[in-house]
Amino acid sequence: MQHDSEYIPALRYRWLTSLYDPIIAITTREKKFKKHLIDLADIKTNDAVLDVGCGTGTLAIGIKKTASGANVIGIDGDPEILELARRKAQKEKVEIVFDQGLSFDLPYQNSQFDRCLSSLFFHHLTLDNKLRTFREIHRVLKIGGQCHIADWGKPTNLFMRLLYYQIQVLDGFKTTRDNVEGQLPALMQSSGFSNILIKEELATIFGTMTLYSAKKL
Ligand SMILES: C[S@@+](CC[C@H](N)C(=O)[O-])C[C@H]1O[C@@H](n2cnc3c(N)ncnc32)[C@H](O)[C@@H]1O
Repeated sequence: MQHDSEYIPALRYRWLTSLYDPIIAITTREKKFKKHLIDLADIKTNDAVLDVGCGTGTLAIGIKKTASGANVIGIDGDPEILELARRKAQKEKVEIVFDQGLSFDLPYQNSQFDRCLSSLFFHHLTLDNKLRTFREIHRVLKIGGQCHIADWGKPTNLFMRLLYYQIQVLDGFKTTRDNVEGQLPALMQSSGFSNILIKEELATIFGTMTLYSAKKL
């Protein structure tokens, strides 16, 4: 697959990919925020659920373990990280489909999913690709479907702002700026979403982790 030049792998540098899980677990309060995100999604048996930018599959595996009757698909652009995700799911004995593809050109039909979730992903995208991705998520959701996102958000105080510079140095300023400026809700709105809410703001050592929810009406 060809990536555009803006493609940012899980931890910016490929040699860090194998260290991704332990680093994220220690630094982002991962267990807590991913559990809260899954709880917010209120997933029912037989729901079709998409995890966009699924990386090593931790969120998708959490979804499947919480809602075992759901049909869970994870999509990511990086074949190397998808292999890690498949191995992890196998080890955890959960059935999840992991597809390779890009978030702004999702290989799914209109109105295919009940829920789309995503974590630690949108700060990897340029402004234009954030908007294209939200439009794609809106397209593949059913009417009444829900989108639940956890990612770096507008800092709740100056200290959180200063801590977020670490992410900006690691992942680059271009794609991370819209997050810290609190632009994700406006992008969701211009992509057609309704009922856009900030559900939670968690302090981490890399800044404020924000949980957003929105609906396709
Ligand atoms: C920081 S990781 C987050 C992984 C996972 N969601 C988590 O919570 O740990 C970001 C992921 O987004 C993927 N990615 C970046 N740009 C992408 C795009 N346009 N489409 C699909 N995946 C993309 C990267 O390969 C990487 O696995």
